[in-house]
Amino acid sequence: MTAKPTIAIAADHGGFFLKQAILTAYAARFDFLDLGTNSEESCNYADYGHALAEAIERGRARQGIIICGSGIGISIAANRHKAVRAALCADVTMARFARLHNDANVLALGARIIGQQVAFDCVDVFFSTAFEGGRHEARVEKLNTGI
Ligand code: RB5
Repeated sequence: MTAKPTIAIAADHGGFFLKQAILTAYAARFDFLDLGTNSEESCNYADYGHALAEAIERGRARQGIIICGSGIGISIAANRHKAVRAALCADVTMARFARLHNDANVLALGARIIGQQVAFDCVDVFFSTAFEGGRHEARVEKLNTGI
């Protein structure tokens, strides 16, 4: 039996319920590193985006999932970190291209934007699609160059 991949996951209060649903639905497939939040109590999405990015930076997980109400704030926070290529996805096509072309290592979801089934579909596609490489290698390399 092959080891389950470790997926870091973090959400603010707006993403809390979707995070819990993903933890339950994918328990057999992934080992989750759950970085919170752990309730509906109001909190700051930036704290959770940074926490997930730090987990990736420290090698605690190679890939992750971040969730807030829109998915925007938490992905902005995570993308401030060089090790992170977080892609905010609202459908499976975005999730597929995020992996194929951008080699995204973090899936960002907006719990108030998409339904649970669409979120699950995005998780399925994101974590089963490989980076296409080729002409996209140099493009992704340039993402590491700041301004
Ligand atoms: C929280 O109310 C909300 O602002 C947050 O979840 C997210 O949508 C921010 O981008």
